[in-house]
Amino acid sequence: MTRVLLENISKVFDKQVTAVSDFKLEVADGEFMVIVGPSGSGKTTILRMIAGLEKATSGNIYIGDTLVNDVPPRNRDIAMVFQNYALYPHMNVYENIAFGLKMRKFSKEEINRRVKKVSVLLGIEHLLTRKPKALSGGQRQRVAVGRAIVRSPKVFLFDEPLSNLDTGLRGATRAELKALHHKLQITSIYVTHDQTEAMTLGDRICVMYNGIIQQTASPIEIYERPINKFVAGFFGSPSMNFFAGRVKFKGDIPCFLIGNDTITLPRRLKTVLADYSDREMVMGIRPESLSLCNFSNKVDNAIGAIVDIVEPLGNRVDIYLTNNTGTKFIANTDTHTKINVQDVLKVHIDPEKTHIFEHGEAGKNITLSDGTLQ
Ligand SMILES: Nc1ncnc2c1ncn2[C@@H]1O[C@H](COP(=O)(O)OP(=O)(O)O)[C@@H](O)[C@H]1O
Ligand SMILES: [Mg+2]
Repeated sequence: MTRVLLENISKVFDKQVTAVSDFKLEVADGEFMVIVGPSGSGKTTILRMIAGLEKATSGNIYIGDTLVNDVPPRNRDIAMVFQNYALYPHMNVYENIAFGLKMRKFSKEEINRRVKKVSVLLGIEHLLTRKPKALSGGQRQRVAVGRAIVRSPKVFLFDEPLSNLDTGLRGATRAELKALHHKLQITSIYVTHDQTEAMTLGDRICVMYNGIIQQTASPIEIYERPINKFVAGFFGSPSMNFFAGRVKFKGDIPCFLIGNDTITLPRRLKTVLADYSDREMVMGIRPESLSLCNFSNKVDNAIGAIVDIVEPLGNRVDIYLTNNTGTKFIANTDTHTKINVQDVLKVHIDPEKTHIFEHGEAGKNITLSDGTLQ
């Protein structure tokens, strides 16, 4: 059983740069945990502390049941795959994969057996005699993974391992990593700034911003029930739209006013919104929860808007719009709807799919505590 437990981990560099604050995370045995956040949010620092390459300023790290705060990296039974792969240029692929085993004094036969097995698993048997400079980016990436798994470590750490690959290859390699994890079931912690990688790979996702965990949850929960405006805006492509406006009650029915347009909110929000009546708030709604209608139609729960850009993507069309209050936003339509630049439309907002946030970069999602069962 190898769970990884991080208890109240903080890291302050040079007594002044706080890279990570009060980080708490339990990664279950065999789980694939993704830590995601923009550049500078402290992701690499976390991984380096787990690997033992960096000492935490405070807090405890457990691997399995062992407190490893003072255990040196080589005794932590962890393998790390870096963004730049860090292969030895003067060694061929076989030697690169074998190196860690050699250092640990494995027998020649055992090394041979393991390197063969791993190279078959990763489809790189034909590359064993090549030097890294004679490999493509994707092949180097596989060698780096091979070098990590050949030791059968208790935990894998990945630091943006796909960032140096071009888009097509990145998608394919992502799927391979997922299949590999399915086969090996080794506890993995994977760091990325890419929300798509986080969504597709993670059993759970831990979202970081400025050294602080914003939310840890399953991909679907993160997408459908983001805890704050930062998490809401970080996931989805295109990302969630935000409209500044005001909460207003018509009798006991909660509404949200965006300029002169009124959206009637679900009654289940009555209680949570009671404290926010007449307050300036922000409504969040994803592009797929908007639908475009003729301006002349009578449509409830709609805002008026003008089309700025029409972007066909083959399977759908993204429509860039500006509403009456000057807010820019994006809606998706199917490819058969005829919409042109400068069209004036009504955009229907699905009230069931809205979130109401407090203002500010990480403004709280107050509609999460609406009493609905999860
Ligand atoms: N060795 C270091 N000395 C001083 N500051 C550092 C050091 N390593 C990282 N930092 C700072 O800590 C913060 C988090 O960095 P990092 O963990 O690399 O973020 P990420 O991997 O999410 O991009 C950044 O502000 C970075 O400048
Ligand atoms: Mg990093």
